[in-house]
Amino acid sequence: MSYVSIGKLEDFTEGKGSEVLVGARRIAVFRSGNTIRAIKNICPHEGDLLHRCAPKDGAAVCLGHGWRFSLETGACLKGSPESRVAVYPARVNSGEVEIDLG
Ligand code: FES
Repeated sequence: MSYVSIGKLEDFTEGKGSEVLVGARRIAVFRSGNTIRAIKNICPHEGDLLHRCAPKDGAAVCLGHGWRFSLETGACLKGSPESRVAVYPARVNSGEVEIDLG
């Protein structure tokens, strides 16, 4: 486990995605209350940025063509079933949002 801080909890807006860059990685971050979900920000279909969507029912819905990805597992719920996005474990530690890049 290799958690890195990506900002304070209040830096992330409820119901709206944010993009965080960590090295060469583009990560989409979504907040629901005190829960943070972090997934790879690049849609595997045609590369749209997933942080631009408002998450719905625990999933990111790509604005490109409507593919849906579980924020918990990264599984593709609508689109190509064999596609998925990477999920980064996230936690809030003393008000800091930390994600595990593995
Ligand atoms: S680019 Fe994401 S669904 Fe097409």
